[in-house]
This record gives sequence, C-alpha cells and structure tokens, in this order.
Amino acid sequence: MRTYLVTGGAGFIGSNYIHYMFRKYGSQIRIINVDALTYAGNLENLKEFESWENYTFLKADICDKEAISAVFAENEIDRVVHFAAESHVDRSIRNPEIFVQTNVLGTAVMLNCAKAAWELPDGSFQEGKKFLHVSTDEVYGSLEEDGGYFYETTPYAPRSPYSASKASSDMLVKAYMDTYHFPANITNCSNNYGPYQFPEKLIPLIINNALQGKKLPVYGDGRNVRDWLYVEDHAKAIDMVQEQGRLFETYNVGGHNEKQNIEIIKIIIKTLREMLPEDDPRKALVSEDLITYVEDRKGHDRRYAIAPDKIRKEIGWEPETMFEEGIRRTIQWFFENEAWMKNVTSGDYQKYYAEMYKDE
Ligand code: NAD
Ligand code: DAU
Repeated sequence: MRTYLVTGGAGFIGSNYIHYMFRKYGSQIRIINVDALTYAGNLENLKEFESWENYTFLKADICDKEAISAVFAENEIDRVVHFAAESHVDRSIRNPEIFVQTNVLGTAVMLNCAKAAWELPDGSFQEGKKFLHVSTDEVYGSLEEDGGYFYETTPYAPRSPYSASKASSDMLVKAYMDTYHFPANITNCSNNYGPYQFPEKLIPLIINNALQGKKLPVYGDGRNVRDWLYVEDHAKAIDMVQEQGRLFETYNVGGHNEKQNIEIIKIIIKTLREMLPEDDPRKALVSEDLITYVEDRKGHDRRYAIAPDKIRKEIGWEPETMFEEGIRRTIQWFFENEAWMKNVTSGDYQKYYAEMYKDE
C-alpha cells in the first residue's frame, strides 16, 4: 500500500486533496496528515476519515525537525505532498515573519527530512519516492491587463511577502533537484475556490457577508484579475503530475478563467439570489447595494493568468468544472454547512476581521 505524507491537510486545498484521493483510491492508499492546526487548519474538514485505518492525523509543525524526521523514521513514506504554508497575502503584509518561518524554513525541513530518509549510500534515491511542492502563480509577479500569460519559463518576480516566501521555497526545491537530483516536482497554481475555504479569502468572504447583509469590501477599483480554478481540479492536477509528470519539472495549473474581482462579486450576488428560496429571509439582504469600495491592498498585483499548455500537452490535465457550475457547487456547500462557517468565524476570525476592515 502506497503511503502519502500530506502536510497542511487540514487546510482548504489539503483537505479537498485528501477527499479527492480517498474518493479515487479508497483503501489502496494510506495518508498521514501532518498539520500544526493554525487558525487555517480545521479537523472538521476531515471528520469522516477519523476512524479509517488508512488515515492518520498528526499535529506537528513542519519547522520541527525532530517531529518530521520521526514521521519518516516510523513510516515508509512513498509520496510527500507539501501544502502546509501561511497562505493569505493580506496577513503577509501585516506580519511577514511567520511567512518566512513556515514557508521557507518549513519547506527546508521537509526537504531535508525527505532527503535523509530516501537517500541511498551512493547519493541516489530509493526507487519510486516523490516529493510534490504545491506552489502558486503569484511567484511570477503581476501582469498588465493585456500582458500575456505566466509560463513555466516566466522569470520569478514576487511582489508580496507571501509570494516572496513561496518563491524562496520553490527555489529551495529547485536547488535540491539540481544539487542532489532529489525526486521532486513543483506545481504553480492559480486562485482556487470551493468547499472548506477559509472566509478571509475573496469568494467565501463575499458569500458569508452577503448572506448576512454585511458590506462587500472591494479593494481599489475592483478590476484586478485572478484566474479562478475549482479546487477539485487542482487536487486532480496534483495527483496527475505526481503520477504522470516528468520528475524535476514544474507544471503551471490554471483554467483560463480570468475574471475581475468586481465581476466575481456580481456573479456571487446573482447566483445567491437565484439559489435562495423565495421565503428565505436572507434573499432580501443579498444585493449589489452591499458593494463597498475600500482602501486598496498595498502593492496589489494587477493580474494573474496561467498558461496551462504544458500540463495539458504532457499529462492531459484539463479543468473539468466551469466557473458557473463551480460557484453553484461552492454556494450549495456553504448553504449545507452553516455550522462550519459559524465555527470558523467565531473567536480569532472576528478579531482579524475587525482589524482588517475596521468593522466596515
Ligand atoms: P490554508 O491556509 O487554507 O491551509 C494551510 C494549512 O497549513 C492549514 O491547515 C494550516 O494549519 C497548515 N499549516 C500552517 N502552518 C503550518 C506549520 N508550520 N506546520 C504545519 N502545518 C501548518 O492554505 P490553502 O489555501 O489550502 O493553500 C495550500 C497550499 O497551496 C499553500 O502552500 C499555498 O501557497 C498553495 N496555493 C494556494 C492557492 C489558493 O488559491 N488558496 C493557490 C495556489 C497555491
Ligand atoms: O493566485 C494564487 C493565490 O491566490 C494563492 O497563492 C493564495 O494563497 C491565495 O490566497 C490567493 O491569493 P489572492 O490574494 O489572489 O486571493 P484573495 O482571495 O485574498 O484575493 C483575491 C482578489 O480579491 C485580490 O485581487 C484581492 C481582492 N479582495 C480580496 C479580499 C479578501 C478584495 O477586493 N476584497 C477582499 O475582501
């Protein structure tokens, strides 16, 4: 049975990946999920697997060398899928240091522990071992409105503390591949959305606020462009790259689904209004009148857009979920999981929201 070590599996994409993998492979694989359970990690996301024999959760910090090397020593790990990170740009602008700590140092610890466990006396690596580093399109910087696409060959030009820390972590992975021939891949993906996304990010924040009749904060002129991908398509891409990709290669993942932030917000309002039943009191609250332009994000990247040509040609990956369907599935999930939203927005999130938006 193949054993996966997934870091950050209690977060948004990590938990969706674990759901995807168990749906696809069931009892044929074993997953060990290592997560420090920061504000962004939530074990509720994975409760259906708690009793499974082939699923193990371990609360540990990826910066803790002893804890991570013990995982490798006590288990025969075949695959590492490394999601764990601080992931929110606005938080990185307020507090960059934790981003360097987790994203850079944490990745160095993961690489070192995997290398120590998998390396043979002659410096080669055990057959079949693979490390996948999950990264972002933000490492490539910001595009002009009509300024082409990000390719795997686009030079790195990160502009926020978050993207600088992710770029640094990518460079470490590249250095391990070049120096040691360490068996790894990197994926650089565009903006994800879907179930279990923490409501500090645009789409769940807008859904949550709109349903409560709260203001919908739009940074700057609202015309910044992101390339949105349904999270399950990302999970599938990660699995396909690890199984069918060429080792040592980077693959960009994105769905050519570019939209301005203001368009996204208007689509969410329209879709919520279509999906809410007539007698639901929230229907009267959801309206474009809630849209509120607020101070822009510092150094706000104008546009991201991925060219997914390489992953399509080499591996045959294509996004399966169109935005109109993905956003409906996401909203439906939030309707069905009101308790999840209540739990994650209590406590620390309230404090974050009040500081970030000055109680808009
Ligand atoms: P997230 O913030 O929802 O989840 C991060 C997870 O990592 C949480 O469960 C958290 O508890 C855990 N974590 C944080 N610090 C840790 C530490 N020191 N040790 C162990 N665990 C720790 O993030 P996400 O949106 O799911 O993103 C996952 C990965 O995908 C990140 O590496 C991110 O850079 C990358 N990525 C995200 C997107 C996106 O749109 N969200 C797009 C492309 C790439
Ligand atoms: O591109 C991939 C990246 O996408 C990932 O690497 C990051 O982990 C992920 O957080 C995401 O980064 P963004 O900064 O693009 O996502 P966010 O949801 O924070 O913001 C999306 C856009 O919406 C961005 O242009 C800022 C804007 N925005 C965001 C918030 C939270 C608003 O206008 N208002 C808001 O309240």
